[in-house]
Amino acid sequence: MKIKVCIGSSCHLKGSRIVIQTFQNQIEKHNLQDVIQMSGQFCMKNCQNGVCIMIDDKAFSVNPAEADSFFEKEIITRVKVCND
Ligand code: FES
Repeated sequence: MKIKVCIGSSCHLKGSRIVIQTFQNQIEKHNLQDVIQMSGQFCMKNCQNGVCIMIDDKAFSVNPAEADSFFEKEIITRVKVCND
C-alpha cells in the first residue's frame, strides 16, 4: 500500500508534518513497515480541504488532530482486507 502525504505549502500550514509523524508512529506500532510505503508529494490541487493524502489512488483529507483515528479507520482496515 502506498500513502502519499501532501507537503505543499497549504497542507504544510495545516499540519502535514504532524500527519506524517502520526502515521509513522502508527506504522511502527502496528509493525507495518513492510506493507506501507509512505512518501511526501507536492500540491495535489486540493488545498481547500485538510491535509491532502492519497492511499493508493484514492484521495482523502485528514485533520492532524484526527490522524490517529483516520489511520485506524481507513488504513488499518485496508491493510487487513489486502492481507486476507
Ligand atoms: S498544498 Fe496540499 S493539496 Fe495543495
